[in-house]
Amino acid sequence: MTKRIWNFSAGPAVLPESVLEEARDNLLSLGSTGIGILEHSHRGKAFLKVYEETEALCREVGGIPANYKVLFLQGGASSQFFMIPMNFLTTGATADYLVTGAWAEKAKEEAERFGNVHVACNSADKNYSYVPQSASYSAAPVYVHYTSNNTIFGTQFHKQPTPPAGVDLICDASSDIFSRPIDIAKHGIVYAGAQKNLGPSGVTLVLIRDELVERGAKNLPAMLQYRTHAKNESMYNTPPTFAIYLMGLVLKWIKQNGGLTAMGERNARKAGKLYAFLEQSRMFKPTAAVDSRSQMNVTFVTGNADLDAEFCSAATKAGFDGLKGHRSVGGMRASIYNAFPEAGVDALIDFLREFEAKK
Ligand SMILES: Cc1ncc(COP(=O)(O)O)c(C=O)c1O
Repeated sequence: MTKRIWNFSAGPAVLPESVLEEARDNLLSLGSTGIGILEHSHRGKAFLKVYEETEALCREVGGIPANYKVLFLQGGASSQFFMIPMNFLTTGATADYLVTGAWAEKAKEEAERFGNVHVACNSADKNYSYVPQSASYSAAPVYVHYTSNNTIFGTQFHKQPTPPAGVDLICDASSDIFSRPIDIAKHGIVYAGAQKNLGPSGVTLVLIRDELVERGAKNLPAMLQYRTHAKNESMYNTPPTFAIYLMGLVLKWIKQNGGLTAMGERNARKAGKLYAFLEQSRMFKPTAAVDSRSQMNVTFVTGNADLDAEFCSAATKAGFDGLKGHRSVGGMRASIYNAFPEAGVDALIDFLREFEAKK
């Protein structure tokens, strides 16, 4: 087999090797069924078992209260950007958005198609390099939406925002879901595309409180109503069976590796090492404000675009892939989600040090 390299992609991203091996073994026959995982009917016994196991693991690993539905939807996290306002932003109501990055901005723009939106905070003034420490909410928002980790800008909320009393908090957790303990009960909805911490692209995990499922608008196409998916256990239409299966394997891997507390500790250690190196480096500087730094996406620059490009090209040749930063930040971005091995962070630090020493 071709040697695997260090994959710092922001998503789809590296998956645990044991997960890939187990999936490979079940491609031709899921267990002893004689039918591969990709080929099983979603209505058949074998897949229903996979589905039930994935949901149960999700509830166990994520500590999801019984009054929340676990939904496996399609259309990416981007479809939640419009599905949420379509369901809850009723005429005359206002939804509050914490605009801390490009994805948060996109979510806000989608909501604006459907109703009143109030921007409770915005860090665009410094190219989203920080998470504002406070927000100013509208008088009676129908919900407050935030993005817990800003994938492009390398910033993260280190504690969840506190919305006005009685207002539902909605979180786009696409790039840090299950990377550390999360208090689901403090949220009305938590959603995340799977392709960073949970599995392959193609499935979006939506955790939603029962009462919101009931409250959602009824005059929408069936596929856009949460109640349709809740009533049909995410099988109103053909679900992304393989992505759900793989998410189940990733959740099992998280559980076997100590759950969210252990993930959080390991992620803090991995990111901590990299930031510590960047802090003392003469050449490489982190771009995010100290109190807002992400444990998932570490963004840094040399301050010289040509040198950044030279570094990225040397890194690729040395077996470090996906380090080029997003064009809106430039420089480099190391995405080090749950499955990214600590040894890869150590190897990157060594490489950064050697590159700097040669200059
Ligand atoms: C924070 C965040 N939200 C939303 C998205 C969009 O997700 P999707 O591609 O699943 O629609 C991304 C993609 O990278 C993201 O990082």
